[in-house]
Amino acid sequence: MIGGERRKVTPADFVKAKKRGHRIVMVTAYDYYQARMADEAGVDGILVGDSLGMVVMGFSSTIPVTVGMIAHHLRAVLNARPRCLVVADMPFMSYEISREEAVRNAGKLIKMGADAVKVEGLGEVVDKVEAMVRSGIPVMGHVGLNPQRSLVTGLRMRGKKAEEAIEIIEASKALEEAGAFSIVIEYTASEIAEEITRRLSIPTICIGSGPKCDGQILVFHDLVGLNPSPPPFAKQYLRAYQLMLEALTLYVKEVREGLFPGREMYWSMDPEELEKLKKALDKRKIE
Ligand code: KIV
Repeated sequence: MIGGERRKVTPADFVKAKKRGHRIVMVTAYDYYQARMADEAGVDGILVGDSLGMVVMGFSSTIPVTVGMIAHHLRAVLNARPRCLVVADMPFMSYEISREEAVRNAGKLIKMGADAVKVEGLGEVVDKVEAMVRSGIPVMGHVGLNPQRSLVTGLRMRGKKAEEAIEIIEASKALEEAGAFSIVIEYTASEIAEEITRRLSIPTICIGSGPKCDGQILVFHDLVGLNPSPPPFAKQYLRAYQLMLEALTLYVKEVREGLFPGREMYWSMDPEELEKLKKALDKRKIE
């Protein structure tokens, strides 16, 4: 556990963890109970990811997600008062247009109580990251597969070719120089993640990029098996979809068969009061 047992985890603790060789554990969460469980399990950081567009809202991509949607779920996560670091994702078109818009939108999420924000992108976001950090906002970068660029780039694994790998490695260094405190590396060849991790003094958090990173992150719904079609790199630690489906199916059956609610799940009136009620109702019938 980084940052000590009781103290709130900070971005500086992430950097210290890398220096000390402590593996960082992150998971996404979008609501009060998910955040409570993640924090209780001992994760170091929660990401209120724009993946909520797909796993919570049912969109086919993260493109439609707005700052308002992130804010709504951030509120729920913060209500759990997690000890771990809470990172709010900057959704598509909330930071690309200008440094000013990036600072303004990130500022809204920080004022709500997020400990940091995350932005996707390579060289094109470095000036925005610098502007946010200069304004006092801790920023996590996100390189490799950037689903917010998927309309142009598709959703394939990144860095299979040397030229693309170099672009990702150089962008990671530039993000560190711009002041990012950490970088997510999504779905790259593992050698690229290893190389970035070796070159940077800030921690790398991998998803689908192998074990040679300073930490790992998974999407909550993929981890617990709530998403019946998870990406190939996600390990399912539970079959939650199947288990919850079984519970709901049993509930439907029990209501239809008159088995729910059982005798222990409803309560009766005091017999004297019941007598009074019956009399009062009878009287009304006569009138
Ligand atoms: O939104 C998200 O869940 C993410 C993770 C894949 C890192 O960005």
